[in-house]
Amino acid sequence: QFCCSAEDRNIVQKQWSVLWGDTESSKVKIAFGRLILTKLAKEIPEVKELFNKVDIDNPEGGPFSAHCLRILNALDMSINLMDDPEALDSALDHLADQHHDRPGVKKAHFKKIAEILHTGLQQVLDDYNALSWKSCFKGILGKIASKL
Ligand code: HEM
Repeated sequence: QFCCSAEDRNIVQKQWSVLWGDTESSKVKIAFGRLILTKLAKEIPEVKELFNKVDIDNPEGGPFSAHCLRILNALDMSINLMDDPEALDSALDHLADQHHDRPGVKKAHFKKIAEILHTGLQQVLDDYNALSWKSCFKGILGKIASKL
């Protein structure tokens, strides 16, 4: 059972689409992903080594940029699937398995990234609706972190 209301979903989907409406959205996604992940690693230093394989030491490089795009695309997919609870559920279940398989990843890291996302989205969206985003992200991130 997904926790945010239909109205929350509509607001979040609309506001999210405003962000990536332009051409070259993958460049913007990479930049946004880089911002939130480097902030996460700065605020919780133990996180940094979890991203060694994707070369977080070179945040502008190919491996880390590709990782940033994977994360943002997964978020994008989740937000777009909120209209289809069954598909969303299996997508999030798969993401939960992928994170469960990564030793060292903790629920607390997801709490922190949720905070970082809220701060970041607030800065880039004029009409950021905090309550709607909070309840939708609670459902999405909570499910991804549910097997940790
Ligand atoms: C890998 C999504 C948050 C740690 C991944 C992958 C995706 C993803 C799609 C690639 C999965 C694969 O190919 O195996 C997300 C989303 C997040 C999120 C949508 C929520 C915003 C986090 C957080 C952590 C984390 C908070 C905590 C440290 C990792 C690690 C990997 C990974 C360690 C493997 C990196 C590698 O390839 O070596 N994530 N993630 N993720 N994620 Fe997340």
